[in-house]
Amino acid sequence: MSRNAYIVGTGHHVPEHVVTNADMEKIVDTSDEWITTRTGIKERRKVEGSTASSDLVSVAVQNAMEMAGWKPSDVQGIIVGTVTPDYPFPSTAALVADRLKMGNIPAYDFEAGCTAFIYGLIQAKAFIESGIMDRMIVVGVDCLTKITNWDDRGSCILFGDGAGAVAVSSEGPGGRLGGWHWGSDGSLGEHLMQIGGGSKNPASHGTVDRNEHTIFMNGARIFKHAVRAMHDSCMKALEQDGTEKKDVDLLVSHQANLRIIDATARALELEPEQVYINIQKYGNTSAASIPIALDEAYRSDAIRETSTVVLAAFGAGLTWGGMILHW
Ligand code: UT7
Repeated sequence: MSRNAYIVGTGHHVPEHVVTNADMEKIVDTSDEWITTRTGIKERRKVEGSTASSDLVSVAVQNAMEMAGWKPSDVQGIIVGTVTPDYPFPSTAALVADRLKMGNIPAYDFEAGCTAFIYGLIQAKAFIESGIMDRMIVVGVDCLTKITNWDDRGSCILFGDGAGAVAVSSEGPGGRLGGWHWGSDGSLGEHLMQIGGGSKNPASHGTVDRNEHTIFMNGARIFKHAVRAMHDSCMKALEQDGTEKKDVDLLVSHQANLRIIDATARALELEPEQVYINIQKYGNTSAASIPIALDEAYRSDAIRETSTVVLAAFGAGLTWGGMILHW
């Protein structure tokens, strides 16, 4: 009998500290009006002091395990999508597995920018359907405010911190992982990157002086690509799933810009109430944005027992992806 993979628990965690658009006006030459009309963002969350990705992930994972009814020893593997791990190594996944006493399970980080959570779900689907695992945790987390260029008004107003997690099982009921699509185009990678800190430009006084440990983004170029990539990802995932646009109940997409979400919703011919939006509260939380939105949608009953949900994202790499979930 063929095996399926189901989301049986969701959880998220965001830091308490709120940074409003009025706060941003004190940092760079911007306005609440510009940020709201160009992005849809009203406020975002920011970690303070030495709080790091693993701290947010630990709470998000505990929430997802609680919903699933899992003990830490039930988890057979944990994978964490992030561009802001606690350290280059060891992995944030291994730190969290240890902190939550999950035992000596496989634990690793991977990186696909803001698309990471969808890449993670596709990995989980493969692991579970092939029988490699029965129960695993997929996480998307980023603390982008730790690598934000606070002098760049074109990017610093966008980002916030957060973590989201799902428990994926070979046994339902839950949200079945259905059709998917994923891709990348490294020739466009230069438009969204952290130039310093890797093997090409290792950390040095020079890289710090040149602000190369922060995010460089060509916003307009990314915007153009994003609209196309999100639409393409949705349509290819739907086609692989054998589902038509008219059968979609809810879009839970990467929350990067309200105008990008609106364009995707229009392409899918969805009504406003069929689109889950929380960008006004959190800004762009990168790999965390979809699992945070998914958890909120599930707990607020925007997802019901029979919902068909479309996930779609794009991000650094450049990468993109989509997945269909059937509750
Ligand atoms: O998760 C993936 C990560 N990245 C993204 O998703 C980014 C996708 N891109 C975007 O969301 C949009 O391109 C932005 C929100 C970043 C920018 O919006 P835009 O409509 O593409 O603006 P723009 O970059 O074309 O700039 C328009 C104007 C410029 O002024 P001039 O040259 O027309 O006088 C900018 O200098 O807006 C100016 N501007 C700002 N003004 C006030 C740029 N940032 C700001 C700001 N406040 N924060």
